Amino acid sequence: MKLHGKTIVITGSSSGIGGEVARLARFHGARVIGVDRNDPMLTLDGFVKMDLGDPLAIDQAISHLPAQIDGLVNAAGVPGTVDRDVVAKVNYLGLRHLTEALVPRMPKGASVVNITSILGAEWPHRLDLHKQLAATTSFAAGKAWLDAHPAPQETCYQYFKEALIVWTKKRSGSLFMQHDIRMNSVAPGPVFTPILGDFVSMLGQERVERDSALMKRPALADEIAGPIVFLLSDDARWVVGANLPIDGGIEAAYT
Ligand SMILES: NC(=O)c1ccc[n+]([C@@H]2O[C@H](COP(=O)([O-])OP(=O)(O)OC[C@H]3O[C@@H](n4cnc5c(N)ncnc54)[C@H](O)[C@@H]3O)[C@@H](O)[C@H]2O)c1
Repeated sequence: MKLHGKTIVITGSSSGIGGEVARLARFHGARVIGVDRNDPMLTLDGFVKMDLGDPLAIDQAISHLPAQIDGLVNAAGVPGTVDRDVVAKVNYLGLRHLTEALVPRMPKGASVVNITSILGAEWPHRLDLHKQLAATTSFAAGKAWLDAHPAPQETCYQYFKEALIVWTKKRSGSLFMQHDIRMNSVAPGPVFTPILGDFVSMLGQERVERDSALMKRPALADEIAGPIVFLLSDDARWVVGANLPIDGGIEAAYT
């Protein structure tokens, strides 16, 4: 019962990885509140419908979330086959907006886990840009910065996963030093969930074949859930600012 007595909010809980994290977190004793734009497909302790791409909708809906939150898993996400503005809003700006809005409800020892991707592995190539975006202090300021420095549509998914890795690393320091809240991310390789097909169209056949040669198979969503539950638990109390690959060794094979 690693999460006994903890209240955990999980975005993207109505499908894929978020759904499996919800199931496993409940198994480990947590009270789980799901957040998604779609209705839940499994038993939860509470559910709040929210469009995570819209800061006003987030501000309105968070009044329905609990007053104390011991863990937040940001699993909601969209693939790069949708418009880059939507990718920016859901995968980065909205995620950041929700997280910052919930920080005051988190006690010492709380844990935030963001889901990045193996596709964010090239973040050091654009570190300067990602640091500038991370330094913006609101959804609107981040949007204005992106209007002035647009990400390419073809690689917007990768761009915002890179940006999320950098924000996680930068923000985790102040969260831990000032509030005793830990923030980390996990970087899955391909996972059998409903958006896997979009990734294949997004990346193209050549890249998919190259990556396929480096791995045994895509992961199952429950293989991603275990390490996330670990990061939520007190066993991980000294793990801060990490971006943990969960990819069956693909990232290691790139080196
Ligand atoms: N599946 C993969 O191969 C893979 C690999 C690496 C990283 N990821 C990341 O893992 C996370 C989970 O993806 P998944 O594979 O479980 O996908 P999924 O499509 O199964 O689940 C995504 C969930 O996010 C929700 N969502 C999307 N837009 C939303 C919005 N505007 N407001 C509220 N909810 C919204 C969807 O309704 C859905 O329930 C995503 O961040 C994704 O980028 C997935």
